[in-house]
Parts: sequence; structure tokens; C-alpha cells
Amino acid sequence: MEIDRPHLGVAADPKALAQAGARLWVDVARAALEERGVFHVALAGGTTPAALHRAVAEQSDLDAAWHRTHAWFGDERAVPPTDRRSNYHMAQETLFEPVPLPATQIHRMEAEDPDLGAAADRYERALRAARGNGAGPPVLDLLWLGLGEDGHTASLFPGSPALAVHDRAVVPVEGGPPDTPRRLSLTLPVLSAARRVFFVVSGANKADAVAAALEFAPGAALDSLPPAARVRPAPGRLLWLVDEAAASRLKRTPRAHAAGFTPRS
Ligand code: 6PG
Repeated sequence: MEIDRPHLGVAADPKALAQAGARLWVDVARAALEERGVFHVALAGGTTPAALHRAVAEQSDLDAAWHRTHAWFGDERAVPPTDRRSNYHMAQETLFEPVPLPATQIHRMEAEDPDLGAAADRYERALRAARGNGAGPPVLDLLWLGLGEDGHTASLFPGSPALAVHDRAVVPVEGGPPDTPRRLSLTLPVLSAARRVFFVVSGANKADAVAAALEFAPGAALDSLPPAARVRPAPGRLLWLVDEAAASRLKRTPRAHAAGFTPRS
């Protein structure tokens, strides 16, 4: 079965990337609020989302949306929320502080808990209570994901046993990078169940990983692909939003530029 090619949008530079991402956030939030009266978005970790969050915080079109928005996390490092390595800490500085999102609607992963399994269970219960889908994976309205140079996304690293977990929504992860080896992560079924999945990737250092994630051989076995390439939402729901530097190794994927950005396969 031909894999539904993801949409690719290319922005000229990191600033344009953040602006394009912020406008897409507005569009998806508005649609979710119109259809369901609530908007559940999961944030990516790392450093790339900071510029996106700041651009989102400037979107006055979202002023009426924050009181009906819930923020979740795709993953978290096993550090205190006050630690600069924490994804929550980054989101708090760049998004939660400048916007009127109710604290009760910010769902932090308590990855500082020495018992990561218990913390994963708590997060799974909260996510299922809010976005339950029967026995299936909880459904987010919008999921932001980053991409590591090794092709990881969220805290699903190449070769990790977490990649094979399909009966849980949240798992503890060992084997992350040396400065934050222990993590919590949403699992692939949850990443692929989201109504919209947007990868946001910037920088020449990610160009090889973007090409590997987007231009693998058709028919390649799923478990031979980098983790980011295994995120498979329903057709038409996956968008890779990258800047020119991160797109520089792509050879055959059609693209649209963010200026007149219209997602297309
Ligand atoms: C994390 C992430 C991870 C991140 C990529 C890209 O907690 O590290 O969620 O998947 O998105 O490693 O990170 P940068 O944006 O810092 O390059």
C-alpha cells in the first residue's frame, strides 16, 4: 500500500518557520473549538519549539481560545520542572507565562518522580480521562513533534524498546542522551492517533535526518525506519514544517514555501 506522503512546507528561515507554525496553530485551534468546543495540543520538547511558542503567544487570534485549550507534552526529561533541561520549563518561559492558559489546563509530565513507571501511569490516566478513545490510543487535536539528528522524535530513540509498545499511551524511557538519559514519552500509537501531527524542524544539522525520515524507499519495513518515520497518522494529517536549511538534503519531496505556504503532498 502506497504510504500517504506527508505534506511538506518549507519556510525560508527559522523566523518564517515559527510564524508559519503559529498560523497553523491558529487554524487548527479554531477548527477544533468550532467542532468540539475544546482544543487539546501536545507540545514538542527540545529547543526548536521555543521560537514557535513565542510566535504563538503573539497571535491575538487565539485570545478567545486559551480558556478552552489544554496543553499536554509529547515527552519530558527526568529532571525537576525548574531545571533548564525540562521541556515544561521551556514551555513555561516561552508560552505559558505570556498567554492566559489556565494552570489547571497545563498537564505536566511528572518525570522528576524517581518512580518513572508510576509517573507514566498517572499521565496515561489523565490523558485517557481527557481524551479517552475506549481501549484505543487517546486522541489529541494537534501534536507538535521535533526531530533529533538520529531520527528520534518525542523520546522514542532508535532501537528503543519503547518503539514496540502499543498497549500503553505513556512509557518510561531509558537510554536518552547522556545529559538526560531517563525520560517519559508518549508512544507511537498516540503520536499516530492525533488529528493533526506537525513536525517542526530547523537547521542544517537536521537535514540528513529529515531526508531519512521523508525519503525512505517505498515498501521499506517499518522497523527499518527512523522513529520519526514511524509516526503514521491518517492520510492528510501529517505535516513536516521545516526551514530551508533542514530541507537541504531532500531530493524528491514536493514542497511549498511558507510565504505562500499551502500544505501539499
Ligand atoms: C526532547 C524532545 C526531542 C526533540 C528533538 C529535537 O525532549 O529532546 O522532545 O524529541 O524534539 O531532540 O530537539 P531540538 O529542537 O533541541 O533540536
